[in-house]
Amino acid sequence: MGLLSVVLLLLLISVQSCWAQDDPLLPFSEHLDPEQKVRLKWGFDEVQDTILFQLTVNTSGWVGLGFSPKGGMTGADIVIGGVGQNGSYFTDRHAVGNSMPVVDQRQDYKLLSLNESDGQTVMKFQRSIKSCDEYDLPITTDPIKLIYAYGQTDDIKYHGTRRGTKEVNLLRYMPKVTPTDSKYFDMIMVNFTVPANQTYYHCKIMRTPDFDQKHHIYRIEPLIQNMDLVHHLLLYRCPPGVTEIYESQCYTEMSNEKCMEVVAVWGIGGGAFELPEVAGLPIGGNDGDVLYRLEVHYNNPNKTAGRVDHSGLRFYYTSILRQHDAAALMTGLEVRSRYAIPPRAKTFLTYGLCDTAHFAQVLPETPQDLQVFSVMLHTHLAGRKVRVGHFRDGKQIDLLAVDEHYDFEYQEVVNLGKTKTVKLGDKLLVQCTYNTENRTKLTWGGLSTSNEMCLAFLYYYPAMNLSGCLSSPDSNALIAEMGATNNINWLNMMLSKTWNDTSIYEYQQTLKRINQTLIVSNSNQNESYNTGTIPDLILTHSAPCQNASSNMGTTPNLGVTHSAPGVNGCPNERLAWMSLLLCLAVQWISS
Ligand SMILES: *[C@@H]1O[C@H](CO)[C@@H](O)[C@H](O)[C@H]1NC(C)=O
Ligand SMILES: *[C@@H]1O[C@H](CO)[C@@H](O)[C@H](O)[C@H]1NC(C)=O
Ligand SMILES: *[C@@H]1O[C@H](CO)[C@@H](O)[C@H](O)[C@H]1NC(C)=O
Ligand SMILES: *[C@@H]1O[C@H](CO)[C@@H](O)[C@H](O)[C@H]1NC(C)=O
Ligand SMILES: *[C@@H]1O[C@H](CO)[C@@H](O)[C@H](O)[C@H]1NC(C)=O
Ligand SMILES: *[C@@H]1O[C@H](CO)[C@@H](O)[C@H](O)[C@H]1NC(C)=O
Ligand SMILES: *[C@@H]1O[C@H](CO)[C@@H](O)[C@H](O)[C@H]1NC(C)=O
Ligand SMILES: *[C@@H]1O[C@H](CO)[C@@H](O)[C@H](O)[C@H]1NC(C)=O
Ligand SMILES: *[C@@H]1O[C@H](CO)[C@@H](O)[C@H](O)[C@H]1NC(C)=O
Ligand SMILES: *[C@@H]1O[C@H](CO)[C@@H](O)[C@H](O)[C@H]1NC(C)=O
Ligand SMILES: *[C@@H]1O[C@H](CO)[C@@H](O)[C@H](O)[C@H]1NC(C)=O
Ligand SMILES: *[C@@H]1O[C@H](CO)[C@@H](O)[C@H](O)[C@H]1NC(C)=O
Repeated sequence: MGLLSVVLLLLLISVQSCWAQDDPLLPFSEHLDPEQKVRLKWGFDEVQDTILFQLTVNTSGWVGLGFSPKGGMTGADIVIGGVGQNGSYFTDRHAVGNSMPVVDQRQDYKLLSLNESDGQTVMKFQRSIKSCDEYDLPITTDPIKLIYAYGQTDDIKYHGTRRGTKEVNLLRYMPKVTPTDSKYFDMIMVNFTVPANQTYYHCKIMRTPDFDQKHHIYRIEPLIQNMDLVHHLLLYRCPPGVTEIYESQCYTEMSNEKCMEVVAVWGIGGGAFELPEVAGLPIGGNDGDVLYRLEVHYNNPNKTAGRVDHSGLRFYYTSILRQHDAAALMTGLEVRSRYAIPPRAKTFLTYGLCDTAHFAQVLPETPQDLQVFSVMLHTHLAGRKVRVGHFRDGKQIDLLAVDEHYDFEYQEVVNLGKTKTVKLGDKLLVQCTYNTENRTKLTWGGLSTSNEMCLAFLYYYPAMNLSGCLSSPDSNALIAEMGATNNINWLNMMLSKTWNDTSIYEYQQTLKRINQTLIVSNSNQNESYNTGTIPDLILTHSAPCQNASSNMGTTPNLGVTHSAPGVNGCPNERLAWMSLLLCLAVQWISS
């Protein structure tokens, strides 16, 4: 008895520390039922093509979770598990109607743990986001109908009313937390007449409302009045030295250059952005009279005159402080560095390196590891792919974020699916792929939509007083490598060069091979300069059609028939054959 209570106490302590220290692999959570007896937590890794679930149900009987095409049982992809007298059981099934779900021939779900205590069953399992089994439903960036059911015993039979449906966007989840004291303020342009220029960056230095104490911003919504004109916008925090309020064209006044610490970012096609429950963007408190710079990139290809705009961002905030202060860090290739993308390139790669080992050089406080939870990737019109590699001790350990189908018309802050730790000393490499096959002139790095950028904005906690971690190819090394003698001579060489596949590739490799200048800047725009080299980035392949073992984690055979009937009159063999073909095609396309 004494031993039992010690064990129970230990269990309780471990459970509580689990709650206190949220699992970084399971950042999202929803109750699926109104009674809050069924709770689903999840996290995912789109690069590795895995999604992890933890289903907690207040029952000691069987528990089931399904992905349903329409919300009912028919066609649903279902997992059922539990802890019974003879140990745990777990099966991947599918429902052909409102009847006992049939066990799939291929078991594509992997059970990680199954626990039952205190009348509660906790089932943790993993699957591929995509699916190659005709009975498994692929998970996409659209909302999906989740169905759940559970029994009072481990005898899997009709669940009665212990079931339900909830639609959730698993990969683009937006928590709907509304703190009791939620308020908002707007940072917008007012009555701004957009000039008749194709590219125009307008800047407005402004104040937030007065805050007597620190608050946390937990949600940012775009307020876009002219969707056809506003291309992207950013809000930067100004250092204490900036005290004057005004608006003007960007990058013409000195103080514009000083406000470079990104707080919020929105791109065309993007929606609202909500921070995880453990973090908020700090505002107010002891930071004095801090000013902000709103920068709006107007894209007016028709050079229409007289359009008036009121676009900006809405910030929802709360005085109920969250566990961590969050911040954004700009990483990638320095925007105004002297690099150019040659014309007629079907693919051209550029690289920007961030070495976190240099943070200490610009921070008075001891820097900390970054817990990264969201990222926005950014290039202009020629961008086709953006990849962010994560390196530790000289080895690539992960791809922090990847967009293999970068679309300039659709940019948003995306959730990483889990909180990724970037340890101090780790390096982040932003690699951009461009296509300039139809351009006849060099494309320079720069602010205009016809110029290029290669950036990744990382949202992380705990916040540090940092603004950028960028790099650019060392310009002296570049001049020397290309056989030029000085800037002007180099520029002429670039302009008159014959750009063919060979010379384009050589130039790309030169930019990558030579020393890079690494620039880390703090909130005061105090910068450190170091030298580094670009590591090789490997695209780790996800295996969407991995053959999972067919008896993963299960012990007893449930006595349910294993031969799946045909669907829609098709024989099973043919379906399996088609899915195999599809699977091979997917593998071939993605290789
Ligand atoms: C579910 O079970 C847990 C642990 O036993 C308990 O704390 C919680 O109150 C229960 N919830 C409901 C809605 O019954
Ligand atoms: C547990 O295993 C025993 C022996 O194999 C079997 O007789 C019994 O029916 C099993 N119980 C359940 C609930 O499956
Ligand atoms: C849960 O189950 C797993 C194996 O199924 C086991 O390793 C783990 O210790 C269990 N955890 C608790 C808290 O009982
Ligand atoms: C915007 O401009 C219009 C026309 O000039 C004016 O009537 C209106 O009061 C202005 N609004 C603000 C908020 O300044
Ligand atoms: C906008 O276009 C006009 C006319 O082409 C030009 O004179 C002006 O310099 C441009 N302004 C900016 C900010 O590019
Ligand atoms: C520019 O002009 C084209 C064709 O005249 C039209 O389709 C497009 O909507 C216009 N775009 C803007 C931003 O005004
Ligand atoms: C370049 O032009 C060709 C022919 O018009 C077109 O098929 C191709 O899609 C264009 N490429 C890009 C990147 O715009
Ligand atoms: C950042 O700097 C401000 C003032 O310069 C200071 O008050 C604050 O504590 C610093 N933040 C961190 C996280 O060190
Ligand atoms: C590419 O251009 C270079 C000159 O820059 C020339 O020497 C070379 O022969 C060209 N190669 C091809 C394949 O056209
Ligand atoms: C590259 O940088 C390293 C370290 O600063 C330096 O020792 C080396 O000479 C540089 N190489 C070139 C070619 O400039
Ligand atoms: C910027 O860095 C230099 C060198 O480390 C230091 O002397 C100076 O005080 C710093 N200035 C600010 C504003 O942080
Ligand atoms: C997948 O597993 C099944 C059964 O375990 C096996 O027959 C089949 O050959 C495997 N397929 C591949 C591609 O490994």
